[in-house]
Amino acid sequence: MDYKNEILRLKEERNAIVVAHLYQDGEIQDIADMVGDSFELSRYCADTDKDVIVFCGVHFMAESAKILSPDKTVLLPAPDAGCPMADMADVEGLRKLKERYPEAAVVCYVNTTAAIKAECDICCTSSIAEKVVRSVHNKQIIFLPDRNLGSNIAKQIPEKDFIFWPGFCPTHNALSPMHVAEAREAYPNALLAIHPEVPPEVAELADYVGSTKQIIEYCTKSDKKEFIIGTEEGILHQLKKKNPDKIFHMLKYNFICPNMKKTTMEKLYESLRDMKHEITLDKDIIERASLSLERMLAVK
Ligand code: 13P
Ligand code: SF4
Repeated sequence: MDYKNEILRLKEERNAIVVAHLYQDGEIQDIADMVGDSFELSRYCADTDKDVIVFCGVHFMAESAKILSPDKTVLLPAPDAGCPMADMADVEGLRKLKERYPEAAVVCYVNTTAAIKAECDICCTSSIAEKVVRSVHNKQIIFLPDRNLGSNIAKQIPEKDFIFWPGFCPTHNALSPMHVAEAREAYPNALLAIHPEVPPEVAELADYVGSTKQIIEYCTKSDKKEFIIGTEEGILHQLKKKNPDKIFHMLKYNFICPNMKKTTMEKLYESLRDMKHEITLDKDIIERASLSLERMLAVK
């Protein structure tokens, strides 16, 4: 089966766009209308005038697209592609925390379920987490669910008091200073670019900390030729495409998010063919969750 041409044909027929996160396999990225980090994809989906959005990524990302474009059909080709970190936060626990800290603003990472977004004041992605927290007037911030991202930005904003949810990304949390020491020894001339979902003791050893898109920009603009990459290996596809003369090493062997790898060309084709694995959400959840996502998109 020529999946590529069939997907392109069905895309036209359905008046659909395909969007892909930077952790997706290269062939999925190559067929997508838009490839990006969580923030770029949210903005792109909010602005599209197509009828159907096919989201090659994980569940919370497709949910965000649905919240921002409730009249559109949003499909997730791999319906079991979840995010373990998003599943670490629960509504009941968050409500209790809000009661305990009534003065606090609730800032939630987009890596959360729609039900959690509906309980929050404002969302953030890794690329604008610091800006979002600075934009909030409250001194106390309940930050969830990623304690690593929260701790990494808290260092830049000492004037705020943070209450962290104890969540983490299993893929990024597996990094330790030992990985950095080994990579620095093996590649002494390389710069180290890392995602802020890593533990703070690892982030502080990096030359650069940023979202997937920001890591690509950093490596592309740099005069240096060699880099160690501290995030999911799907990012190598765009890094190598944009920088054919540069060398990239992974900070850790087998650095993958298994859920991001569940999307295949076959599943993407079948999803478009049968219009299946549609994201549906309660109207009430959409209304409340859209406030926190739209506030995020409005942060300059
Ligand atoms: P960004 O692409 O926004 O950096 O996020 C990475 C991630 O883990 C998404 O789940
Ligand atoms: Fe979730 Fe981590 Fe995978 Fe991102 S990389 S989708 S945070 S498990």
